[in-house]
Amino acid sequence: MSRILEVNDLSVSFQTYHAEVQAIRGVNFHLDEKETLAIVGESGSGKSVTAQSIMRLIEMPPGEFVDGSIMFAGEDLTQKSEKQMENIRGKEISMIFQDPMTSLNPTMTVGKQIAEALIKHQHMSKKEAHNQGIALLKLVGIPNPEARINQYPHQYSGGMRQRAMIAIALSCNPKILIADEPTTALDVTIQAQILDLMRGLQEKVGTAIILITHDLGVVANAASRVAVMYGGKIVETGTVDEIFYNPKHPYTWGLLGSMPKLDGSHETLQAIPGSPPDLADPPKGCPFVTRCPHAMKACKEHMPAYTNLSDTQKTACWLLDERAPKVELPESAIVGGTTVHG
Ligand SMILES: Nc1ncnc2c1ncn2[C@@H]1O[C@H](COP(=O)(O)OP(=O)(O)OP(=O)(O)O)[C@@H](O)[C@H]1O
Ligand SMILES: [Mg+2]
Repeated sequence: MSRILEVNDLSVSFQTYHAEVQAIRGVNFHLDEKETLAIVGESGSGKSVTAQSIMRLIEMPPGEFVDGSIMFAGEDLTQKSEKQMENIRGKEISMIFQDPMTSLNPTMTVGKQIAEALIKHQHMSKKEAHNQGIALLKLVGIPNPEARINQYPHQYSGGMRQRAMIAIALSCNPKILIADEPTTALDVTIQAQILDLMRGLQEKVGTAIILITHDLGVVANAASRVAVMYGGKIVETGTVDEIFYNPKHPYTWGLLGSMPKLDGSHETLQAIPGSPPDLADPPKGCPFVTRCPHAMKACKEHMPAYTNLSDTQKTACWLLDERAPKVELPESAIVGGTTVHG
């Protein structure tokens, strides 16, 4: 499989009135053709900033690329002009958001919004774009697309709006689709349908997907690899199996422990106590140190390097150092009886 995206040591900061917020610090990951990578982490961990950096949607200023590169098709996206990015966004890389109501234009029919991208990037005529729009709405499972194409977003249900967003995002056969919490605003049944739809389309269209979510539960059936983010850093990355069955970072253990269990026993559902670090004054060492039940002196002082546990799994934790005490995987993080929806 060939690599289509490589994010190297990416750091992005925001200059706010009070301080410089170091939103992401030294983020590294890659995406292969046709795969789905999930980026998981709690609120404020830097998932959206990572996604928006790839799309170059970070407003500069107050945002700033401090360091690193985003290699796509052999070129560094951090170095592109706004004009060059306009030819990449929506055509090569597209994005869908949590709330389609904010990204769809309420004053324009869904058909016109699909046609815009097709006319701009695929140089279709209005008529061709209209017909292709109907085909795309059909592809994403909108019933009666010939009539629906002339409706406005508010005439669609939430799930249908998300389907329409996916149709627009896929209209130009992008190489990468970034989905930032695409199902968070939807109820569980519709969530599952949208994730199924994305998976099905990926097989048909062959797009690689970056799926951003705070819910590890949706990841198991939807992704092939997972990057776990915390405090602006990726603390662990691996295949879905590695993250679910052989997690090595205490933050990943915490995320697994906070997932509902199949047996419905609420005793086993544990939220991670404490709150995330202040990114205006990020910790010198591991970002999870103040909440980690296994924190040691080294964790406070130095950011642990990544340990390669396999060709695919990498974890940044001092517990993996040979001098560290052996710590067992806590029972709450054992996936055996975990409900995995999606
Ligand atoms: N425009 C901005 N100005 C200042 N700080 C920002 C800006 N955008 C993001 N941040 C900060 O960057 C950090 C990472 O934010 P980000 O939105 O990437 O988190 P997230 O993981 O997507 O969280 P959520 O799950 O809530 O969407 C946060 O501390 C946030 O406050
Ligand atoms: Mg976000």
